[in-house]
Amino acid sequence: MSQAGRLVVLVSGSGTNLQALLDAVADASYGAAIVAVGADRDGIEGLARAERAGVPTFVEKLSSYGSRADWDTALAARIAAYKPDLVVAAGFMKILGAPTLESFPVLNTHPALLPSFPGAHGVRDAMAHGVKVTGCTVMLADAGVDTGPIVAQEAVRVFDGDDEHLLHERIKTVERGLLVDTVGRMVREGWTVTGRTVRLGSGGMKK
Ligand code: GRF
Repeated sequence: MSQAGRLVVLVSGSGTNLQALLDAVADASYGAAIVAVGADRDGIEGLARAERAGVPTFVEKLSSYGSRADWDTALAARIAAYKPDLVVAAGFMKILGAPTLESFPVLNTHPALLPSFPGAHGVRDAMAHGVKVTGCTVMLADAGVDTGPIVAQEAVRVFDGDDEHLLHERIKTVERGLLVDTVGRMVREGWTVTGRTVRLGSGGMKK
């Protein structure tokens, strides 16, 4: 195998998706290494998971900067220091700005079947709509809210007794597997984007 793909993972919360990636990269045949974990807040389990795994961490809080643009620039510089091949926003609850999006391919994950139910409350919004099937989406990030080209999706059934927490936990179980599978394929096999269509397995890593 050629050199492992370098991943910077961004988190804002419990970091179970990050944990799934940390577990996956422990196997060299997965083809990736997590070179840093970044967050937009302190004191979260996602950062603790990285520290326990011996992965370097950094925190860039929006409140530390005078403007969103300054935060965007600072965050992109922190990411760039680790020379990633792919940035993975794994439950990162901020929209990334141009300095990051124009410098690296960024993969994002969302707990609904996009383009339905984008935004911070995808699970709640899907339940409120009364859907019987929802799921998760792994997509390339663009400047919009969960609007980028879709890389992979998987469906999850909604049951009568579900509440938001139960359903989200069931989605997250599927989401972790989908994210690990998708990131692995991207670093090992590459991808191409034609219009909104993403194809895996095209050779080199391409934006
Ligand atoms: C995931 O469902 C992600 O899609 C959503 O928030 C959750 C993050 O979970 N934006 P975790 O921090 O990886 O446990």
